[in-house]
Amino acid sequence: MRWFRLEGVSFAILSDVERDYVLKEWEALISAVKSGVILARRRVEGFSYGSHDFLVGFTDFYLGVGDRSRTSVPYFSAVEVEPPQRPGVRGLAGVRTLYLSDGSYARVLIAYRYPSALPESFLYSLFGDVWEIALVFKSLPRPRALSLVESAVKRKSVITGSVEVAHEVEALRELGERVLRGSDLIEFYLLVVIKAPGLRALNEAEERVKTMLKGFGVEAEAPPIQRELYEFRLCGFLACVERAYADAASLKPLFFLVDEEMHDVGGVFLGFSGSGSPVMLDLWSKPNLNFVILGVTGSGKSMSAKLYLKRLRERVREVTYVGVDPESEYTKVAKHVGAAPVEISEGQELGLDPIRLLQLNYLDISQVSDVLSEVYAVPRKLQGVLRKELFVKGDVVSGVEEFVATLRDPVLRKLLEGAVAPPDVNVFRGVPPKLSGSVVFGLRSLRSKRLKILISTLISTYAYNTLLVKSRGRSVFFVDEAWLFMETPSIVGLFENLARRGRKHGVVFMYVTQRAEDLVRSPQGRAILEQSATVLLMRQEPEGRDACKKIYKLSEAEADYLTRAPVGSGILKAGRKRITIQVAPTPEELEVFSTSTR
Ligand SMILES: Nc1ncnc2c1ncn2[C@@H]1O[C@H](COP(=O)(O)OP(=O)(O)OP(=O)(O)O)[C@@H](O)[C@H]1O
Ligand SMILES: [Mg+2]
Repeated sequence: MRWFRLEGVSFAILSDVERDYVLKEWEALISAVKSGVILARRRVEGFSYGSHDFLVGFTDFYLGVGDRSRTSVPYFSAVEVEPPQRPGVRGLAGVRTLYLSDGSYARVLIAYRYPSALPESFLYSLFGDVWEIALVFKSLPRPRALSLVESAVKRKSVITGSVEVAHEVEALRELGERVLRGSDLIEFYLLVVIKAPGLRALNEAEERVKTMLKGFGVEAEAPPIQRELYEFRLCGFLACVERAYADAASLKPLFFLVDEEMHDVGGVFLGFSGSGSPVMLDLWSKPNLNFVILGVTGSGKSMSAKLYLKRLRERVREVTYVGVDPESEYTKVAKHVGAAPVEISEGQELGLDPIRLLQLNYLDISQVSDVLSEVYAVPRKLQGVLRKELFVKGDVVSGVEEFVATLRDPVLRKLLEGAVAPPDVNVFRGVPPKLSGSVVFGLRSLRSKRLKILISTLISTYAYNTLLVKSRGRSVFFVDEAWLFMETPSIVGLFENLARRGRKHGVVFMYVTQRAEDLVRSPQGRAILEQSATVLLMRQEPEGRDACKKIYKLSEAEADYLTRAPVGSGILKAGRKRITIQVAPTPEELEVFSTSTR
């Protein structure tokens, strides 16, 4: 046989149209090759990050082609390779067990009964327990194919009164018609090889695999011809193995070239994909720089964010961070991500006067008007007046205090009174903090939610403009607990605006929050969700599940998975690609970044 290496596809999370495309390619591969074996092999290797070793399972895919004159295969990016090496058979340890030259035991199961319908790519769910999956196939010459189908129909038709058999006969007739119309009839065998260091582990794995297969309606057995099966010597001559026939189109559900991979070159190691390969994420390689992390409380959002920041810093020393941290979670561990923690307290003068930010061009008139309206509950009909006043006086008054004092509308002046009294006035008074390098602002000691919102908004705008827009190279702006702003859509809009501007300046915008369902309700929040090239979806409750499903066009199964996702796991969507992920901290990182005190 001539061997080729095939490339897997992140199938589980493709859209229906994309899946059809992949399954057509699988069908075309089988039709074109005519006789051969498609092989998936699991390989467990160590993957080290820092001083910690993770055990990782990889899957390699091969195609063995019977026709030795075939030098190229235009499917699944096939490249010719040396025959894949396997341990030889040293002997038999019982009629159903092989003893291999690497000291391990192996057992080959062969599927002998299939249900009339199978879910696509069901074999992928066996990957955790098997060593190899092989589809051995051979297309039959037409005359032989036609007579085979005919005699099978005859044989089965003798049995009457059984609905099941009637269905089978019907299926055979249809198969016959397809063969008549030009489809190849294919004789195929599905083999599953289990391998373990000891007999007990082998038996247990066999049980698990059989149970899983049974769940799909597939029966499999390990017949006493293990050596032959192990060497794929079965097509056509083995009387003791029941043959199965199909045309290439009907073999689509047996598709197993599933590989969930995200290996951005130079990316940050974040965890492992569903098929066990390390996930390396480079946000700067995506169509835009927005990264949203969504999940219920305790699902592992902040852990993922902290790991990303810490590991990004390890790769890119000169990256600049600005973080808004309403719960002062990051300020506690800021040194691990290489940022200076700044705790903000009530009564502290911050020098964050929105009118001065307007004069610096960090905010525009409608943004200042939005912030003031939101925080001081200015009704819609007075917002026009406020904007007009800002337009007229924005560049002549010294700041909010003078602005409010000169307002002509008494109602508006009354509403904004809060701005010129403590605690708010302290936010505006004084000089803004001198910022350099990376900073995380902790807001935990601010008791009033209103003040938290006011300060977060102003400090984000200020820090964003002073640090990030000017910093050359890479930078990240992040907000955690962003649900805090959900009831104030214009503030969400302000963040959305930063996100949009970030692209131009190379600033990654990271938005971490629970309650996706609230976010979709405002157009500003929706825009953030829809326009993020990278999204990490972690565990969801039913409302969040539905919101995520709709926005990210998840399949029913994916959406359900989100409601069950264990801590630290979820779906990572980046650009057009989607994989399942388990975010993987090392024991040390887990220890420093855990929030169990909360
Ligand atoms: N990838 C992970 N692997 C193992 N444990 C994790 C992982 N992620 C989080 N945890 C554990 O779960 C706890 C909660 O995680 P985290 O603080 O990230 O949740 P969260 O989604 O940010 O919740 P909240 O919305 O309440 O802030 C952590 O303190 C940690 O102990
Ligand atoms: Mg958190």
